Amino acid sequence: MCGITACVADGDVVDTVLTGLENLEYRGYDSAGIATLDGDGVRVTKREGGIDELVREIDGVELRGQFGVGHTRWSTHGAPTDENAHPHTDCTGSVAVVHNGIIENYVELRSELSAAGHLFTSETDTEVIPHLIEEELSAGRSPEAAFRAAADRLEGSYAIAVLIDGFEGILATRQGSPLVLGVDGDRRFLASDVPSFVEFTSRVVYLHDGDFVRLTPGEHSITDTDGDPVSRPIDTVDWGSEDAERGGFDHYMLKEIHEQPDALRRTINGRITDDGRVDLEEFPEGSFADVSAVHFLSCGTSHHASMYAQALLRDRGVPAFAFTAGEYATTPAPVSTDTLVIAVTQSGETADTLASLRSANARGARTLAVTNVVGSTAAREADEALFIRAGPEIGVAATKTFSSQVAALTLLSERIAADVTGEPTEEGEAVLSALRELPDAVDRVIQRSTASSLANGYAGSDQHFFIGRGAAYPVACEGALKLKEISYEQAEGFSAGELKHGPLALVTPDTPVVAVFTGKHDTKTLNNVEEVRSRGASVIGVAPESADHVAAAVDEFLPVPETHPDVAGVLANVQLQLVSYYVANALNRSIDKPRNLAKSVTVE
Ligand code: F6R
Repeated sequence: MCGITACVADGDVVDTVLTGLENLEYRGYDSAGIATLDGDGVRVTKREGGIDELVREIDGVELRGQFGVGHTRWSTHGAPTDENAHPHTDCTGSVAVVHNGIIENYVELRSELSAAGHLFTSETDTEVIPHLIEEELSAGRSPEAAFRAAADRLEGSYAIAVLIDGFEGILATRQGSPLVLGVDGDRRFLASDVPSFVEFTSRVVYLHDGDFVRLTPGEHSITDTDGDPVSRPIDTVDWGSEDAERGGFDHYMLKEIHEQPDALRRTINGRITDDGRVDLEEFPEGSFADVSAVHFLSCGTSHHASMYAQALLRDRGVPAFAFTAGEYATTPAPVSTDTLVIAVTQSGETADTLASLRSANARGARTLAVTNVVGSTAAREADEALFIRAGPEIGVAATKTFSSQVAALTLLSERIAADVTGEPTEEGEAVLSALRELPDAVDRVIQRSTASSLANGYAGSDQHFFIGRGAAYPVACEGALKLKEISYEQAEGFSAGELKHGPLALVTPDTPVVAVFTGKHDTKTLNNVEEVRSRGASVIGVAPESADHVAAAVDEFLPVPETHPDVAGVLANVQLQLVSYYVANALNRSIDKPRNLAKSVTVE
């Protein structure tokens, strides 16, 4: 949510900053802007709309500079207008700021600054920052000291990059919002996320909260809030720009659906022994022997992956509870030192998840992050981390990261269950062997799916219901979430048994019901299928290919390869991803950038 990017170099950086913005557009796309600093001072171009509109605007302007900052916005305070677009400037036009996050005390700061004569031109929280810097500069402080003093007044979450006339470089800091630094010869980059600059360099420094960064051509230095130098290693990311590009697919989402077999191979690679046991380098046998309960904290799609793991652990006799992170941060469940709290987050930067993780940390639980992003805040703040290795995901709708989360959580759950109960179960071994076959099975689903031929028939229905039991229940919820977020069709996921307790009242012949079967609890779900069919609804069944009884009971059948029931949900979910994709495509929706949404939600 909101992308910031910045570059310093020996030569002009305008094109590089615009490329960085294009690469970050998935983080927000309702307005965009750029500021540069050269001998003529700070110059800003910004406007409502996407990056392409900004590029058109810049075409007619002579814009250049060795120092540039850019922003692509997902509105929090103020509508997506030209005035509210970043960068924001002070009264003199010599300070330009791009910001991701929320300044919680901006109302007080704005009235204080207004009383001191500052004129505001936007409705944003961000605009207080350049005015605070201006105040400090006019009190005689150097640009760096003014920036620090201004940042010291801010409450909330922020990643900020600024240009200040008089300082030949870029200053930046972060507190609660992501910011990474890229290193390449004389060039230094800053961005909310690595894909912004990965086509220029794979050398990355993950910044921490409280870090202050000073970038000049060929150099960067990092200090803490007291101004003392801190050393942060330069890591190398093992993926490149081709991983973050569309590669011939019409949408990132479709590309990422097709990438799932490879993503899953990376997730499980080296983590299952030849004799079918979990082999997690980070968590050897016995790591979880004293765990008494497991709490999962997560949001959206990651919450559905957590619900999936909750079902697996409960099946193995381990008390497990999947909480939505926003609620857990508000009303936390009691924990003790033997409660294992697992934050599941693709980005590792979701504010709700971080807040709940911090609450668990503060109350003494053992915490673990399951995330896709090495160096993310969740990975750093949890006691331990397990990486899902899915590779970069650009489409706002999570697809391959759900599959990889479920695979990584299945490995983790089998390790936890074996440690807690004393030994691996035969059931667990069967699941691991199915997990090994999962990448190829997902590939078969993608190659053979007939989901595209269903899309036209179901697009535009009054509403769509998704039902399932056990591990099929989170898959039903995920199927509904995917459909609503990219097609804007009304869709809800239910535990199949809940339908008759209320939602059945809404079922009409114009309510297609998607029923998910895994081979466990199928008979009861079939009863629920009968209930909706007798009200005229047509049913799409997603089930293992040998499930003739399901095929006979539904109107449309989407088969998945035979596998263990605890793994079958991932295959069913791939069919549902394809249904959503083709429905959204039939409706001509903005699939990679759905309205009102953004990837990585860094505000609570
Ligand atoms: C849906 C989607 C969101 C995210 C949620 C959590 O397709 O992507 O629901 O799953 O915002 O994000 P992470 O996993 O980054 O914490």
